[in-house]
Amino acid sequence: MSNFLVTGGAGFIGGNFLNLMVKKYPADRFVCLDALTYAGHTETLAPVWREKNFSFVRGDICDREGVFRLFEKEAFDYVVHFAAESHVDRSIADPSVFLRTNVMGTQVLLDACRKYGIRRFHHISTDEVYGDLPLKGGRAFTEESPLKPSSPYSASKASADLLVLAYFRTYGLPVTLSRCSNNYGAYQHPEKLIPLSISRLLRGEKVPIYGTGENVRDWLYVEDHCLAVDSIVRGGRDGEIYNIGGRCEKTNIEVVRTLIRALGKDDSSLQFVADRPGHDRRYAIDPKKIERQLGFSPQTDFSDGIRKTLEWYEKNGDWLSALCKTGEEREC
Ligand SMILES: NC(=O)c1ccc[n+]([C@@H]2O[C@H](COP(=O)([O-])OP(=O)(O)OC[C@H]3O[C@@H](n4cnc5c(N)ncnc54)[C@H](O)[C@@H]3O)[C@@H](O)[C@H]2O)c1
Repeated sequence: MSNFLVTGGAGFIGGNFLNLMVKKYPADRFVCLDALTYAGHTETLAPVWREKNFSFVRGDICDREGVFRLFEKEAFDYVVHFAAESHVDRSIADPSVFLRTNVMGTQVLLDACRKYGIRRFHHISTDEVYGDLPLKGGRAFTEESPLKPSSPYSASKASADLLVLAYFRTYGLPVTLSRCSNNYGAYQHPEKLIPLSISRLLRGEKVPIYGTGENVRDWLYVEDHCLAVDSIVRGGRDGEIYNIGGRCEKTNIEVVRTLIRALGKDDSSLQFVADRPGHDRRYAIDPKKIERQLGFSPQTDFSDGIRKTLEWYEKNGDWLSALCKTGEEREC
Protein backbone atom coordinates (compact mmCIF):
# COMPACT_ATOMS: atom_id res chain seq x y z
CA MET A 1 0.00 0.00 0.00
CA SER A 2 1.34 3.46 -0.94
CA ASN A 3 0.20 6.86 0.22
CA PHE A 4 -0.12 9.50 -2.52
CA LEU A 5 -0.39 13.27 -2.24
CA VAL A 6 -1.99 14.72 -5.37
CA THR A 7 -1.85 18.53 -5.50
CA GLY A 8 -4.32 20.47 -7.66
CA GLY A 9 -6.65 17.46 -7.83
CA ALA A 10 -9.79 19.59 -7.98
CA GLY A 11 -8.60 21.01 -11.31
CA PHE A 12 -8.95 19.58 -14.78
CA ILE A 13 -6.05 17.14 -15.15
CA GLY A 14 -5.52 16.37 -11.46
CA GLY A 15 -9.26 15.60 -11.13
CA ASN A 16 -9.21 13.22 -14.08
CA PHE A 17 -6.06 11.61 -12.62
CA LEU A 18 -7.69 11.01 -9.24
CA ASN A 19 -10.95 9.76 -10.77
CA LEU A 20 -8.94 7.12 -12.62
CA MET A 21 -6.28 6.22 -10.03
CA VAL A 22 -8.45 5.97 -6.87
CA LYS A 23 -10.45 3.23 -8.59
CA LYS A 24 -7.53 1.59 -10.40
CA TYR A 25 -5.48 1.19 -7.19
CA PRO A 26 -7.91 0.42 -4.32
CA ALA A 27 -5.03 -0.66 -2.07
CA ASP A 28 -3.33 2.76 -2.32
CA ARG A 29 -4.46 5.93 -0.51
CA PHE A 30 -4.87 9.26 -2.31
CA VAL A 31 -4.97 12.62 -0.53
CA CYS A 32 -5.90 15.62 -2.67
CA LEU A 33 -4.51 18.99 -1.57
CA ASP A 34 -6.17 21.88 -3.38
CA ALA A 35 -6.74 25.56 -2.57
CA LEU A 36 -9.98 25.61 -4.63
CA THR A 37 -9.08 28.72 -6.60
CA TYR A 38 -11.40 29.78 -9.43
CA ALA A 39 -10.07 26.69 -11.31
CA GLY A 40 -10.74 24.08 -8.61
CA HIS A 41 -14.12 22.41 -8.05
CA THR A 42 -14.87 19.59 -5.64
CA GLU A 43 -17.68 18.49 -8.05
CA THR A 44 -14.90 17.30 -10.37
CA LEU A 45 -14.05 14.68 -7.74
CA ALA A 46 -17.66 13.46 -7.29
CA PRO A 47 -16.84 10.02 -8.81
CA VAL A 48 -14.36 9.26 -5.97
CA TRP A 49 -15.52 11.54 -3.15
CA ARG A 50 -16.97 8.70 -1.09
CA GLU A 51 -14.27 6.13 -1.80
CA LYS A 52 -12.49 4.85 1.34
CA ASN A 53 -9.02 5.36 -0.17
CA PHE A 54 -9.66 9.04 -1.01
CA SER A 55 -9.58 12.18 1.11
CA PHE A 56 -9.63 15.89 0.38
CA VAL A 57 -7.73 18.67 2.15
CA ARG A 58 -8.39 22.29 1.29
CA GLY A 59 -5.07 24.09 1.50
CA ASP A 60 -2.54 26.27 -0.26
CA ILE A 61 0.74 24.69 -1.42
CA CYS A 62 2.46 27.98 -0.51
CA ASP A 63 1.44 27.57 3.15
CA ARG A 64 4.68 26.03 4.43
CA GLU A 65 3.42 25.23 7.93
CA GLY A 66 0.20 23.68 6.65
CA VAL A 67 2.02 21.60 4.02
CA PHE A 68 4.63 20.40 6.53
CA ARG A 69 1.89 19.44 9.03
CA LEU A 70 0.16 17.41 6.33
CA PHE A 71 3.40 15.60 5.39
CA GLU A 72 4.13 14.84 9.05
CA LYS A 73 0.65 13.39 9.56
CA GLU A 74 0.39 11.43 6.31
CA ALA A 75 3.97 10.21 5.67
CA PHE A 76 3.45 10.28 1.90
CA ASP A 77 5.27 7.83 -0.37
CA TYR A 78 4.56 9.73 -3.58
CA VAL A 79 3.72 13.31 -4.53
CA VAL A 80 2.12 14.02 -7.90
CA HIS A 81 2.18 17.78 -8.32
CA PHE A 82 -0.47 19.24 -10.64
CA ALA A 83 -1.37 22.41 -8.67
CA ALA A 84 -0.61 25.53 -10.64
CA GLU A 85 -1.99 28.69 -12.11
CA SER A 86 -2.45 27.44 -15.64
CA HIS A 87 -3.98 30.02 -17.96
CA VAL A 88 -1.65 32.04 -20.22
CA ASP A 89 -4.03 35.03 -20.58
CA ARG A 90 -4.36 35.39 -16.82
CA SER A 91 -0.54 35.34 -16.53
CA ILE A 92 -0.32 38.19 -19.05
CA ALA A 93 -2.84 40.21 -17.03
CA ASP A 94 -1.06 39.52 -13.70
CA PRO A 95 2.08 37.38 -13.44
CA SER A 96 2.49 37.63 -9.62
CA VAL A 97 0.24 34.77 -8.54
CA PHE A 98 1.88 32.56 -11.19
CA LEU A 99 5.29 33.07 -9.60
CA ARG A 100 3.90 32.54 -6.11
CA THR A 101 2.02 29.30 -6.82
CA ASN A 102 4.05 27.77 -9.62
CA VAL A 103 7.53 28.55 -8.29
CA MET A 104 7.30 29.20 -4.53
CA GLY A 105 4.57 26.60 -4.03
CA THR A 106 6.69 24.00 -5.78
CA GLN A 107 9.62 24.91 -3.54
CA VAL A 108 7.50 24.39 -0.40
CA LEU A 109 6.53 20.90 -1.60
CA LEU A 110 10.14 20.03 -2.48
CA ASP A 111 11.29 21.17 0.96
CA ALA A 112 8.60 19.07 2.63
CA CYS A 113 9.72 16.05 0.58
CA ARG A 114 13.31 16.62 1.71
CA LYS A 115 12.33 16.93 5.34
CA TYR A 116 9.90 14.01 5.59
CA GLY A 117 11.34 11.71 2.90
CA ILE A 118 9.60 10.47 -0.22
CA ARG A 119 9.84 7.65 -2.77
CA ARG A 120 9.14 10.00 -5.68
CA PHE A 121 8.13 13.60 -6.38
CA HIS A 122 6.56 13.84 -9.83
CA HIS A 123 6.27 17.32 -11.29
CA ILE A 124 3.73 18.09 -14.03
CA SER A 125 5.08 20.63 -16.48
CA THR A 126 4.20 21.76 -19.99
CA ASP A 127 5.59 21.77 -23.53
CA GLU A 128 5.23 25.57 -23.35
CA VAL A 129 8.56 25.77 -21.48
CA TYR A 130 10.31 25.08 -24.81
CA GLY A 131 8.80 28.20 -26.46
CA ASP A 132 7.45 27.81 -29.97
CA LEU A 133 8.44 26.53 -33.42
CA PRO A 134 7.89 27.96 -36.88
CA LEU A 135 4.49 27.06 -38.33
CA LYS A 136 6.08 25.15 -41.20
CA GLY A 137 8.62 22.35 -40.81
CA GLY A 138 8.57 19.05 -39.01
CA ARG A 139 10.82 19.82 -36.01
CA ALA A 140 9.56 18.78 -32.57
CA PHE A 141 10.76 19.42 -29.03
CA THR A 142 12.78 16.69 -27.36
CA GLU A 143 13.62 16.53 -23.64
CA GLU A 144 16.98 18.15 -24.54
CA SER A 145 15.50 21.17 -26.33
CA PRO A 146 16.49 24.48 -24.69
CA LEU A 147 13.97 26.24 -22.45
CA LYS A 148 12.68 29.43 -24.14
CA PRO A 149 9.35 30.27 -22.48
CA SER A 150 7.28 33.07 -24.07
CA SER A 151 4.67 33.97 -21.44
CA PRO A 152 4.82 34.65 -17.69
CA TYR A 153 2.94 31.33 -17.29
CA SER A 154 5.50 29.27 -19.21
CA ALA A 155 8.38 31.20 -17.58
CA SER A 156 7.01 30.27 -14.14
CA LYS A 157 6.67 26.61 -15.17
CA ALA A 158 10.23 26.58 -16.59
CA SER A 159 11.51 28.08 -13.30
CA ALA A 160 9.75 25.35 -11.32
CA ASP A 161 11.23 22.68 -13.65
CA LEU A 162 14.74 23.98 -12.99
CA LEU A 163 14.12 23.98 -9.25
CA VAL A 164 12.86 20.38 -9.33
CA LEU A 165 15.95 19.26 -11.26
CA ALA A 166 18.22 21.23 -8.91
CA TYR A 167 16.73 19.40 -5.89
CA PHE A 168 17.61 16.12 -7.61
CA ARG A 169 21.19 17.20 -8.35
CA THR A 170 21.88 19.03 -5.07
CA TYR A 171 19.96 16.99 -2.51
CA GLY A 172 19.45 13.69 -4.35
CA LEU A 173 15.65 14.06 -4.03
CA PRO A 174 14.01 11.33 -6.18
CA VAL A 175 12.15 13.38 -8.76
CA THR A 176 10.65 12.86 -12.20
CA LEU A 177 9.23 15.52 -14.47
CA SER A 178 6.85 15.41 -17.44
CA ARG A 179 6.08 18.00 -20.11
CA CYS A 180 2.81 17.44 -21.94
CA SER A 181 1.03 19.04 -24.83
CA ASN A 182 -2.50 20.54 -24.80
CA ASN A 183 -4.95 18.33 -22.92
CA TYR A 184 -8.66 18.11 -23.63
CA GLY A 185 -11.51 16.10 -22.11
CA ALA A 186 -14.10 16.23 -19.33
CA TYR A 187 -14.01 18.83 -16.51
CA GLN A 188 -11.85 21.40 -18.32
CA HIS A 189 -12.52 24.99 -17.37
CA PRO A 190 -14.37 26.97 -20.08
CA GLU A 191 -11.52 29.50 -20.31
CA LYS A 192 -9.60 27.00 -22.50
CA LEU A 193 -10.16 26.58 -26.26
CA ILE A 194 -12.18 23.36 -26.51
CA PRO A 195 -14.63 23.82 -23.58
CA LEU A 196 -14.96 27.52 -24.37
CA SER A 197 -15.92 26.68 -27.96
CA ILE A 198 -18.33 23.96 -26.84
CA SER A 199 -20.05 26.15 -24.27
CA ARG A 200 -20.43 29.04 -26.75
CA LEU A 201 -21.71 26.76 -29.52
CA LEU A 202 -24.20 25.04 -27.21
CA ARG A 203 -25.57 28.50 -26.32
CA GLY A 204 -25.78 29.47 -30.02
CA GLU A 205 -23.00 32.08 -29.63
CA LYS A 206 -19.91 32.75 -31.76
CA VAL A 207 -16.49 31.27 -30.89
CA PRO A 208 -13.64 33.81 -30.59
CA ILE A 209 -10.48 32.84 -32.52
CA TYR A 210 -7.21 34.61 -31.90
CA GLY A 211 -5.61 36.11 -35.06
CA THR A 212 -6.19 33.85 -38.06
CA GLY A 213 -6.42 30.66 -36.00
CA GLU A 214 -3.35 29.16 -37.71
CA ASN A 215 -1.48 28.48 -34.44
CA VAL A 216 -0.69 24.79 -34.11
CA ARG A 217 -1.01 22.71 -30.94
CA ASP A 218 -0.53 19.02 -30.26
CA TRP A 219 -3.68 17.54 -28.62
CA LEU A 220 -3.64 14.87 -25.95
CA TYR A 221 -6.78 13.27 -24.48
CA VAL A 222 -6.64 13.93 -20.74
CA GLU A 223 -7.09 10.27 -19.69
CA ASP A 224 -4.12 9.32 -21.88
CA HIS A 225 -2.08 11.99 -20.11
CA CYS A 226 -3.11 10.55 -16.73
CA LEU A 227 -2.05 7.04 -17.78
CA ALA A 228 1.30 8.41 -18.97
CA VAL A 229 1.84 10.13 -15.59
CA ASP A 230 0.95 6.89 -13.80
CA SER A 231 3.55 5.00 -15.87
CA ILE A 232 6.24 7.57 -14.98
CA VAL A 233 5.36 7.69 -11.28
CA ARG A 234 5.57 3.90 -10.99
CA GLY A 235 8.24 3.10 -13.60
CA GLY A 236 10.21 6.24 -14.53
CA ARG A 237 13.84 6.87 -13.67
CA ASP A 238 14.90 9.37 -11.03
CA GLY A 239 16.05 12.74 -12.35
CA GLU A 240 14.55 12.16 -15.79
CA ILE A 241 12.29 14.35 -17.94
CA TYR A 242 9.58 12.76 -20.12
CA ASN A 243 7.73 14.51 -22.94
CA ILE A 244 4.10 13.37 -23.29
CA GLY A 245 2.44 14.10 -26.62
CA GLY A 246 -0.62 13.00 -28.54
CA ARG A 247 1.02 12.77 -32.00
CA CYS A 248 -1.92 14.94 -33.03
CA GLU A 249 -1.00 18.39 -34.36
CA LYS A 250 -3.88 20.64 -35.37
CA THR A 251 -4.41 24.34 -36.00
CA ASN A 252 -6.76 26.08 -33.58
CA ILE A 253 -9.21 26.77 -36.38
CA GLU A 254 -9.22 23.10 -37.39
CA VAL A 255 -10.11 22.14 -33.81
CA VAL A 256 -12.93 24.68 -33.62
CA ARG A 257 -14.27 23.67 -37.07
CA THR A 258 -14.37 20.02 -35.90
CA LEU A 259 -16.61 21.10 -33.00
CA ILE A 260 -18.72 23.35 -35.23
CA ARG A 261 -19.34 20.49 -37.66
CA ALA A 262 -20.06 17.99 -34.87
CA LEU A 263 -22.74 20.34 -33.53
CA GLY A 264 -24.29 20.85 -36.97
CA LYS A 265 -23.22 24.50 -37.33
CA ASP A 266 -21.15 26.42 -39.91
CA ASP A 267 -18.38 29.05 -40.18
CA SER A 268 -20.80 31.85 -39.28
CA SER A 269 -20.13 30.69 -35.68
CA LEU A 270 -16.51 31.94 -35.92
CA GLN A 271 -15.44 35.36 -34.65
CA PHE A 272 -11.84 36.43 -35.32
CA VAL A 273 -10.39 38.60 -32.51
CA ALA A 274 -7.07 40.46 -31.98
CA ASP A 275 -4.18 38.06 -31.40
CA ARG A 276 -2.76 37.33 -27.91
CA PRO A 277 0.52 39.22 -27.24
CA GLY A 278 3.53 36.93 -27.78
CA HIS A 279 1.21 34.15 -29.03
CA ASP A 280 3.23 30.95 -29.57
CA ARG A 281 3.00 29.76 -33.18
CA ARG A 282 3.47 26.01 -32.99
CA TYR A 283 4.15 23.46 -30.26
CA ALA A 284 5.21 19.97 -31.24
CA ILE A 285 6.35 17.24 -28.91
CA ASP A 286 8.69 14.38 -29.69
CA PRO A 287 7.33 11.62 -27.39
CA LYS A 288 9.77 8.85 -28.41
CA LYS A 289 11.49 8.63 -25.03
CA ILE A 290 8.38 7.68 -23.03
CA GLU A 291 7.26 5.39 -25.84
CA ARG A 292 10.57 3.50 -25.84
CA GLN A 293 11.41 3.57 -22.13
CA LEU A 294 7.98 3.04 -20.59
CA GLY A 295 5.99 1.62 -23.52
CA PHE A 296 3.43 4.43 -23.31
CA SER A 297 1.44 5.61 -26.30
CA PRO A 298 -1.93 7.41 -26.38
CA GLN A 299 -4.99 5.14 -26.72
CA THR A 300 -7.61 7.68 -27.81
CA ASP A 301 -7.48 9.30 -31.23
CA PHE A 302 -8.70 12.85 -31.75
CA SER A 303 -12.09 12.05 -33.29
CA ASP A 304 -12.91 9.61 -30.48
CA GLY A 305 -11.63 11.98 -27.80
CA ILE A 306 -13.63 14.91 -29.19
CA ARG A 307 -16.76 12.77 -29.41
CA LYS A 308 -16.40 11.70 -25.74
CA THR A 309 -15.63 15.28 -24.68
CA LEU A 310 -18.67 16.70 -26.48
CA GLU A 311 -20.91 14.03 -25.00
CA TRP A 312 -19.60 14.83 -21.54
CA TYR A 313 -20.22 18.59 -21.86
CA GLU A 314 -23.67 18.01 -23.33
CA LYS A 315 -24.58 15.74 -20.38
CA ASN A 316 -23.00 18.00 -17.78
CA GLY A 317 -24.49 21.33 -18.76
CA ASP A 318 -24.94 22.23 -15.06
CA TRP A 319 -21.20 21.97 -14.36
CA LEU A 320 -20.49 24.24 -17.32
CA SER A 321 -23.23 26.80 -16.77
CA ALA A 322 -22.32 27.15 -13.06
CA LEU A 323 -18.86 28.33 -14.13
CA CYS A 324 -20.13 30.52 -16.95
CA LYS A 325 -22.59 32.20 -14.54
CA THR A 326 -19.82 33.11 -12.12
CA GLY A 327 -18.20 35.06 -14.95
CA GLU A 328 -15.23 32.71 -15.06
CA GLU A 329 -15.52 32.07 -18.77
CA ARG A 330 -12.99 34.11 -20.70
CA GLU A 331 -11.86 34.29 -24.26
CA CYS A 332 -9.29 31.64 -25.02
N1 LIG B 1 -4.40 21.91 -19.31
C1 LIG B 1 -3.41 21.66 -20.15
O1 LIG B 1 -3.63 21.48 -21.36
C2 LIG B 1 -1.99 21.56 -19.65
C3 LIG B 1 -0.97 21.36 -20.59
C4 LIG B 1 0.34 21.23 -20.12
C5 LIG B 1 0.60 21.28 -18.77
N2 LIG B 1 -0.38 21.50 -17.88
C6 LIG B 1 -0.04 21.53 -16.45
O2 LIG B 1 -0.83 20.55 -15.80
C7 LIG B 1 -1.14 20.96 -14.46
C8 LIG B 1 -2.64 20.91 -14.24
O3 LIG B 1 -3.27 21.75 -15.22
P1 LIG B 1 -4.85 21.92 -15.27
O4 LIG B 1 -5.21 22.29 -16.65
O5 LIG B 1 -5.49 20.78 -14.59
O6 LIG B 1 -5.01 23.21 -14.34
P2 LIG B 1 -6.30 23.79 -13.65
O7 LIG B 1 -6.12 25.28 -13.71
O8 LIG B 1 -7.55 23.19 -14.22
O9 LIG B 1 -6.21 23.28 -12.14
C9 LIG B 1 -5.26 23.76 -11.24
C10 LIG B 1 -5.67 23.31 -9.85
O10 LIG B 1 -4.67 23.76 -8.94
C11 LIG B 1 -5.32 24.34 -7.81
N3 LIG B 1 -4.42 25.36 -7.24
C12 LIG B 1 -4.05 26.54 -7.80
N4 LIG B 1 -3.25 27.22 -6.96
C13 LIG B 1 -3.10 26.45 -5.85
C14 LIG B 1 -2.39 26.60 -4.63
N5 LIG B 1 -1.68 27.71 -4.37
N6 LIG B 1 -2.44 25.60 -3.72
C15 LIG B 1 -3.17 24.46 -3.96
N7 LIG B 1 -3.89 24.28 -5.09
C16 LIG B 1 -3.85 25.27 -6.02
C17 LIG B 1 -6.59 24.94 -8.36
O11 LIG B 1 -7.57 25.13 -7.35
C18 LIG B 1 -7.00 23.89 -9.39
O12 LIG B 1 -7.78 22.88 -8.78
C19 LIG B 1 -0.55 22.35 -14.30
O13 LIG B 1 0.67 22.24 -13.63
C20 LIG B 1 -0.35 22.84 -15.74
O14 LIG B 1 0.74 23.73 -15.81
C21 LIG B 1 -1.68 21.66 -18.29
